[in-house]
Amino acid sequence: MKDIHIGIIGGGLMGREMASAFARWCALTDVTVHPVLTAVADLNPATLAWFDCIPSCTQKTTDYHELLANPAIDVVYVAVPHHLHEKLYLDVLAAGKDLFAEKPFGIDLASARRIVQATEASGRFVRCSSEMPFFPGAQRAFEIARKGAIGRVLEVVSGFHHSSDLDPTKPANWKRLNATCGEGGVLNDLGMHACHLPLRLGWKPERVFAQLQKGYAQRPDGKGGHVNCDTWDNALLHTWTSISGEAVPLRLEMKRLAPGATNTWFIEILGTQGGVRYSTAETKTLWLFERDKEQWWKRTDLGFGTVFKTVTGGIFEPGFPDVIQQMWAAYLMEREGLLDGRFGCATPQEALATHEIFAAALESQRAGSVVTL
Ligand SMILES: NC(=O)c1ccc[n+]([C@@H]2O[C@H](COP(=O)([O-])OP(=O)(O)OC[C@H]3O[C@@H](n4cnc5c(N)ncnc54)[C@H](O)[C@@H]3O)[C@@H](O)[C@H]2O)c1
Repeated sequence: MKDIHIGIIGGGLMGREMASAFARWCALTDVTVHPVLTAVADLNPATLAWFDCIPSCTQKTTDYHELLANPAIDVVYVAVPHHLHEKLYLDVLAAGKDLFAEKPFGIDLASARRIVQATEASGRFVRCSSEMPFFPGAQRAFEIARKGAIGRVLEVVSGFHHSSDLDPTKPANWKRLNATCGEGGVLNDLGMHACHLPLRLGWKPERVFAQLQKGYAQRPDGKGGHVNCDTWDNALLHTWTSISGEAVPLRLEMKRLAPGATNTWFIEILGTQGGVRYSTAETKTLWLFERDKEQWWKRTDLGFGTVFKTVTGGIFEPGFPDVIQQMWAAYLMEREGLLDGRFGCATPQEALATHEIFAAALESQRAGSVVTL
């Protein structure tokens, strides 16, 4: 096993999730790299204190420049609010480190373009976090679509639903403010999840009609007052894409106001000969459509058929921490040139493409009309 020393900037929700994935790396059986969490930077000393439970993490600092100056660190993962993405990503690259960036890869399209430019100029290995395609059901849907086994594709729906904003008493955080989340709001928040597999399949939207909705205009600020919330909370993007020369409807759904949904990623691809439907609401269940003299929707239990093999028995259920770990295995193995045809993480170009879609969606909402990308 080759040790790769990792620094994390931003030890909040995602910073800690990643740290825990490294801590149980022994679950993976077919990787030759081993992430060693070496340093963490966060503005909040209480957040830094959580990392005391990781013995290898010996550098804890409130100044991320100190982490970037640490010569032992090979890869930096950055999980901070969106208005800080560009500055921090460019600083990581300027420090000569490889970067695992968080979505949406800059606060808007112009920012994403500058990050891609800097990435290309740096020659560093850069990928963007997007873990949902690493669910075994997502992988099966991807493979079925990639092999063209379902005949002429008739329509595609890909989405991500939360219900986190339904409760009006929930205090606002930076994700509810345009200044820190970006004008895209829920597009910036959940859009990469909905776009990743269609983009990997080459199904980029060509025309977009967007329906964007806001949630509560005010929320508690958590300190006894209120704060104005100005981000879009729900987004339905009705798009046309091109598959094998045919125009195909592709609907992208991103919602923070989806009654009943906690953290639900889903995809449905329907064709003339077959189809596939998968949702993390039923983690193991894959639905396959088949057409003969009769038509069937077949349901199968998938088990633990992950991209990278693990000690976990094949009949068990995968979850969010598992796909986070799979995504890191893909990042680190691809960085070593050892991906061997397995599913790789979202590329800077794919992240840029999501911003092109979001910018077109915002323009469509403003104009109330279809926008060509
Ligand atoms: N891949 C996913 O499924 C997923 C899920 C949630 C969030 N995200 C993304 O992860 C990123 C972070 O989101 P989060 O939910 O972890 O946010 P969070 O608010 O929980 O954590 C952000 C952390 O960044 C720290 N921070 C802010 N400015 C800093 C600075 N200058 N230097 C060092 N630390 C600083 C904050 O103190 C906080 O601890 C965002 O880009 C978000 O879109 C991805």
